[in-house]
Amino acid sequence: NEGALWGGRFAGGPADALAALSKSTQFDWRLAPYDIAGSRAHARVLHTAGLLTAEELEGMIAALDQLETDVRSGAYVPAESDEDVHGCLERGLIERAGPQLGGKLRAGRSRNDQIATLGRMYLRDHAAIIAKDLLDVVRALISQAERYPYAPLPGRTHLQHAQPILLSHHLLAHAWAVLRDVQRLVDWDKRAAVSPYGSGALAGSSLGLDPNAVASELGFDSAVFNSIDGTASRDVYAEFAWVTAMAAVDISRMSEEVTTWATKEFSFVTLDDAFSTGSSIMPQKKNPDVAELARGKAGRLIGDLTGLLATLKGLPLAYNRDLQEDKEPVFDAIDQLEVLLPAVSGMMGTLVFDQERLVELAPQGFALATDVAEWLVRQGVPFREAHEISGDAVRVCEENGIELWDLTDEQFAQISAHLTPQVREVLTVEGSLNSRNSQGGTAPSAVAQQLAELKRQLGEL
Ligand code: ARG
Repeated sequence: NEGALWGGRFAGGPADALAALSKSTQFDWRLAPYDIAGSRAHARVLHTAGLLTAEELEGMIAALDQLETDVRSGAYVPAESDEDVHGCLERGLIERAGPQLGGKLRAGRSRNDQIATLGRMYLRDHAAIIAKDLLDVVRALISQAERYPYAPLPGRTHLQHAQPILLSHHLLAHAWAVLRDVQRLVDWDKRAAVSPYGSGALAGSSLGLDPNAVASELGFDSAVFNSIDGTASRDVYAEFAWVTAMAAVDISRMSEEVTTWATKEFSFVTLDDAFSTGSSIMPQKKNPDVAELARGKAGRLIGDLTGLLATLKGLPLAYNRDLQEDKEPVFDAIDQLEVLLPAVSGMMGTLVFDQERLVELAPQGFALATDVAEWLVRQGVPFREAHEISGDAVRVCEENGIELWDLTDEQFAQISAHLTPQVREVLTVEGSLNSRNSQGGTAPSAVAQQLAELKRQLGEL
């Protein structure tokens, strides 16, 4: 087996079944440009340590450059006999630099420290892409909040009408959650910015190579301080899988609301044609597939996270081949989010809300009962009693099939002497909204402050 990275101590080659099992090029080939970048940095520290002459270094870099060009153009791809990205690239290097020079590069490094490093490099690049895509979702929510600054929404708890809120307040609640996902990715990067290169198989290198020179060339803040930790830990991958799963869950909760809002019964929103789909049999259908796929993919990302954690839980230190299974879950999370998020920001940014319907529905279901109770408190009635009085009013309304504002002055007075006609000042959605003006509240003035703070935090990223 010509391209193999091992074989000396074996009398025969691997069984076909083992080779098939062992193979990872079908998913690790995407790391090839990172492996080549690592090889360049490694060649330079070999030179600094006196293990490659200046001329050899130059030849090595030229061969690696050529290899990278061929990898990127697709001219060089894994062969059936290549086990993994590292073996395949060493074969390509030797084809370009010759066995004498090409055979020198592997000194002082192991696939164990290589793969741990390349994975972090790949994740860091894609964390930046996903963060940008998530910020587009935040911006879409902000633009909708600004488009409908005064539209109300029936605020719900337990999915039942609770209190009127501003639509913009509700949309920004999703924006905060997604913004925190971005903040988590940024924070995660501090822990990911540490390079395992130079850890060797597990114990470090005897060749006087400088791991920090490699780390800085590859864009890391430093090299690891423990070679066992460098090669065996995957908490940085697991944390990435959690942050991306959390982001998918946040997007999923928002999407669940969109599917509900778009039903005939709710009729809160119309989806843009560009972000809805039809049915192959029912000509009238307009389906919220983007939102549904978001919900579906959240389940998938949770699976990626739990699968990875399950792979890690029983592993002794240091490297174990089980760790080869670390890549597909995080690659999958990346692939899914990168295709999902642009569609989600497009869908959210183009929703059209039916403001008249929202105005009509916001106060229904006795959503102003809390306002009545709090109005009574402002008149000096203890809250326990105010709660009872307002509840009595709701019961009378229910018995008569009317809403709170339909009660006559006499009916109010009959329910409680405290309920003077002045109570009507809080029996409007506008009055209710305006009154909730503390920080974080739903009053238009508070939401304007919230929006400014959200934009400030967005600007810090
Ligand atoms: N392909 C392996 C991985 O993805 C790296 C190779 C390490 N193999 C080994 N026998 N030490 O983790």
